[in-house]
Amino acid sequence: MLEKGKKMRLGIIGVGNIGEIFAERLGKEGHELCAYDVRAERLKETARTHRFKQAKSNAEVVHVSEVVVVAVKPQTFPSLAEELKKSPFAERLFISVLAGIPTGKYEEALPGIKVIRIMPNLAIKIGKGVIGLACGKNVSEEEEAQAEELLRPLGMVERVAESKMDAVTAVSGSGAGYVFAIIEALAEAGVRLGLDYSQALRMVAQTMAGSAELLLAIGGHPAELKNRVTSPGGTTIEGLFVMEKGGVKGILMDAVAAAYRRAKELASVAR
Ligand SMILES: NC(=O)c1ccc[n+]([C@@H]2O[C@H](COP(=O)([O-])OP(=O)(O)OC[C@H]3O[C@@H](n4cnc5c(N)ncnc54)[C@H](OP(=O)(O)O)[C@@H]3O)[C@@H](O)[C@H]2O)c1
Repeated sequence: MLEKGKKMRLGIIGVGNIGEIFAERLGKEGHELCAYDVRAERLKETARTHRFKQAKSNAEVVHVSEVVVVAVKPQTFPSLAEELKKSPFAERLFISVLAGIPTGKYEEALPGIKVIRIMPNLAIKIGKGVIGLACGKNVSEEEEAQAEELLRPLGMVERVAESKMDAVTAVSGSGAGYVFAIIEALAEAGVRLGLDYSQALRMVAQTMAGSAELLLAIGGHPAELKNRVTSPGGTTIEGLFVMEKGGVKGILMDAVAAAYRRAKELASVAR
């Protein structure tokens, strides 16, 4: 059983893009890490950089860990499940980042497994990500709370029903991509007005980060804050008028709906 605040023995299966971020951030928290990746060179390199123990197999990772993060591509799941059958999987807690692989699929392949499914976004790299979290049927309330505690150094953890995971993928998983596109557009708009690109980019990125943090700090509805910066006959209302006329809100809502449909399609292929 995991204890709140206790340093744990953590395993990572697959140290690619996402697995490496977990190794980096959770290693910094003082947890004892052990990982395996089929790419021997990649495993060696990341182990040297983030100072974790290299396992010789996934079964070894499970053996020595209390909690195991699974960070391989979804299409690898069937062969991974075969490997895990030879390990004491039922006595460990698994945290899966595999997009489109439901907890039920783990439970079918590995009866009795305790698995939590998460959907992180890229900002976990700096500890400011959003992590949607849904539990499988064998996970207790206490284990869910402990997993949340463990993941907190990576960002904000939001519990959701597993049926909402595709919505989380569309809103926050893909969300970083929308925000980068918007930042790029606003910075280029600054260049049109004669600002230096890198200066405009810094200003826009900080405006995004600052506005978002203000909203999170104050709470409430974004429209209230929008009204505060919109003086009668001023500059902001002119810009907002063009956005309204162009249907920017509708376009963004359509974009999220399109990502949601695609998440569902990909999930049905993965299953
Ligand atoms: N990237 C994102 O922004 C993001 C966001 C949310 C969720 N995810 C999820 O995160 C997962 C990992 O994505 P990623 O981008 O980190 O993938 P990745 O860079 O391909 O990393 C996966 C690593 O695991 C290795 N691997 C494959 N089979 C293995 C096995 N049986 N045992 C141990 N290692 C194995 C892979 O080697 P090979 O290349 O040789 O297969 C690769 O080095 C995916 O399921 C994805 O859905 C990703």
